[in-house]
Parts: sequence; structure tokens; C-alpha cells
Amino acid sequence: MNTIQSVKIINIPKVHDERGYLAVIEKDTIPFPIKRVYYLYDVPNDSFRGGHAHKNQESIIIALSGSFEVIVDDGKRKQRIMLNKPNQGLYIPIQIWREIENFSSGAVCLVLASTNYDENEYIREYSKFCNQLLG
Ligand code: TYD
Repeated sequence: MNTIQSVKIINIPKVHDERGYLAVIEKDTIPFPIKRVYYLYDVPNDSFRGGHAHKNQESIIIALSGSFEVIVDDGKRKQRIMLNKPNQGLYIPIQIWREIENFSSGAVCLVLASTNYDENEYIREYSKFCNQLLG
């Protein structure tokens, strides 16, 4: 069983010169091979996104632009994490409930995913998520 202690910030290496920053994600930067990339944009600031856990998917969430808050929850403990740096990724292992809210205007939320999209591996009901943790 995963706990929110296995949720972690990954620093994405960056190169800086007078022309600005360049951040690079390579095979060794993140703990899984990327199967899919998706992103949220034009998100109204009163929107709630996420609200699910995954049976198989590991994710990295990056605030490519702007800011938002991610709430991670292992069924026992919750943590609220503000993401606002394009060179930081939030690693979320499988079976952690996540919610995303308080999007700033212009925020872009990039997600690197370890699996192809499969609705069957989502847990979208919090009560089911908690029950599943009980085994
Ligand atoms: P949803 O899971 O509700 O987004 P969030 O992560 O913000 O909770 O997904 C919104 C819709 O997009 C839903 O109908 C499923 C669809 N979708 C895809 O078709 N492919 C994907 O890779 C993802 C992540 C979602």
C-alpha cells in the first residue's frame, strides 16, 4: 500500500543562460517510462480537477505555467502541495487519491503518465478508494 510519504517533488534539471531557462526530462529524471502526456489549460479558477486514484498509473504533475494546488490522500493522511515552478514535478504513485484546485489564471497543468488512458483503471469514488485500501 502506498502512503503520501511516497509522493515526492522531483527537481527537473534546467539549463540557464541570458536567453532564459531550458528544462529537460530524460529517462533517468523520472521513475517510470512515459506512455502518455496530457495537459489541462484554460481552467476556471473555481474548477476542481482530479478527484480520483489510479490502480496502475503513476503520474508526474508539473505546473508548466502559473500555479495550482494538489491534494494527495492515502486514505489516512492528506497533504496539500502548491505547484508553481515549471522545473518541479510532483510524483504520485499508484493508489493515491488526488484533487487539483485553485488554478491561477493562465495555469497549465502537465501530466506525465506511465500508462495509456484506460477508464477501467480509475477509481473515481472516494468510498471505493477507501474500501479498496482495506483489502
Ligand atoms: P478527467 O479524468 O475527468 O480529468 P481530470 O484528470 O482533471 O480529473 O478527464 C476528463 C475527460 O477526458 C474524461 O472524459 C476522460 C477524458 N480523458 C481522455 O480521453 N484521455 C486521457 O488521457 C485523459 C486523462 C482523460
